[in-house]
Amino acid sequence: MVLNSILLDRKGKKVNVNRRTFLKTTLGTLLATGLPRPSLTEALSKSKKPVKEFRFHASQARVNLGVGSHFTAWTYNGQIPGPEIRVREGEIIRVVLKNYLPEGTTIHWHGIPVPNAMDGVPEVTQNAVMPGESFVYEFEARPAGSYIYHSHVRYQLDQGLYGALIIEPSNLRESYDREYTLMLEDWVMRDGGGVANTRRRPPMGMMGGMMRGRQEVGRSGDPLLEPFYDGYAVNGKVYDAVSPLIVSKGDRVKLRLLNPSSATIYDLRLAGHALTITHVDGNAVEPMETDVLRIGMGERYDIQFVANNPGNWLLAAREGGFGEGMLRIPLRYKGIRNKEVVPPTFNRGLRFATYWDLKALYPSDGFGSRDADRVYHQTLSGGMHSPFWTINGQVYPNAERLLVRKGEWVRIQYWNHSMMPHPMHLHGHFFKVVNHSLPRERWILKDTLIVYPMERVEIEFLADNPGNWFHHCHHLYHMNAGMANVVVYQY
Ligand code: C2O
Ligand code: CU
Repeated sequence: MVLNSILLDRKGKKVNVNRRTFLKTTLGTLLATGLPRPSLTEALSKSKKPVKEFRFHASQARVNLGVGSHFTAWTYNGQIPGPEIRVREGEIIRVVLKNYLPEGTTIHWHGIPVPNAMDGVPEVTQNAVMPGESFVYEFEARPAGSYIYHSHVRYQLDQGLYGALIIEPSNLRESYDREYTLMLEDWVMRDGGGVANTRRRPPMGMMGGMMRGRQEVGRSGDPLLEPFYDGYAVNGKVYDAVSPLIVSKGDRVKLRLLNPSSATIYDLRLAGHALTITHVDGNAVEPMETDVLRIGMGERYDIQFVANNPGNWLLAAREGGFGEGMLRIPLRYKGIRNKEVVPPTFNRGLRFATYWDLKALYPSDGFGSRDADRVYHQTLSGGMHSPFWTINGQVYPNAERLLVRKGEWVRIQYWNHSMMPHPMHLHGHFFKVVNHSLPRERWILKDTLIVYPMERVEIEFLADNPGNWFHHCHHLYHMNAGMANVVVYQY
């Protein structure tokens, strides 16, 4: 969306003018025209957006999620999760990636509408950065919000290559006393993480029903089973090594909840407190209270709560049969001596805000005020008797492309014809979630949407960011087993 014309040409390639030379030239020209000094300084500050540079080395490292046993994971800078990137809206993010892994890698900036060449999808927007090589990602941090960055190569996300990316608004629009970023992670706490610990799929005849409904096939065509996760971690630690949220009575607390898990949807509840949703996938919504918050793979929710109930509480996930109830974060009030920790209960009758209860906070005029120029149907299926997960029966990369033209308003109609929920993610764009009970300008803006079994839902987006954009289920084992295609801009 925001192409930095100083640094990138139309194809997103680096232009061979370094910034300093460029600025000098600009200054020289301005000096020659004899403009007064103040405009010079102005010109300088306008063209020079502050650059925040980060150096990432992707490498294997021994890690420990807090239970004492060490294992080898794939990391950025040797840590799980990777370092948090925190910048202000409008700054330039520059990440210098050096690859020390045994295979190629990339970084994708999940949710940020970056120029296409910076999107980090191998074979779609760039070649994977091979072992020993480097790559410089550079783009403007916009818009403000909570994002995730992660490798987009094969199963590397499930081996540890992810982190949080926070873009703070350029002017303060929200008030709170404390803020925490919480990454919710599913782990196999053995060497290589998830993918190294899957099993081969038994011959078809033996499949019977479904292995937990979760079999898959690697890109190479290797049938694998999805791993059984044994570590549900928050910011790289499992309970009770998870760092607690520390609050004082009366605090207004903001939580940025990010789900970089490969295969787990969480239903979260904070014992003793209601949660107020303020942002979905970085976009402001009318504050909405809920008891239970559901967060799918790739989704982000910003929530607030008021610390008005002193004690020791847990923010925890509902047990859904895969051990995800082990995901727990302590909430501690300062000065409370009572050591008893209260977990949430998931009794009936709790409030559970769905997509359809949420409204965009800022009505977006012009955003989708006309009918769609193009409509695509996407039937999601697979899983039951096939090792593949498909869109319209096709297995990526043998999948039809979704052609669009710049300026078009595009509608995608999903029909989930399978028994699994699929968090569908579109790169490079935010989309509106069609909600017939609301006026268009209040439809929420997202980039990842859970489509439930047998559900039909629609999204719409403005084709305003030319390039080739990956579109896929964010369940990593579904994506790698074919549930993906590419949105292609025609000229
Ligand atoms: Cu989180 Cu294709 O992305
Ligand atoms: Cu899926």
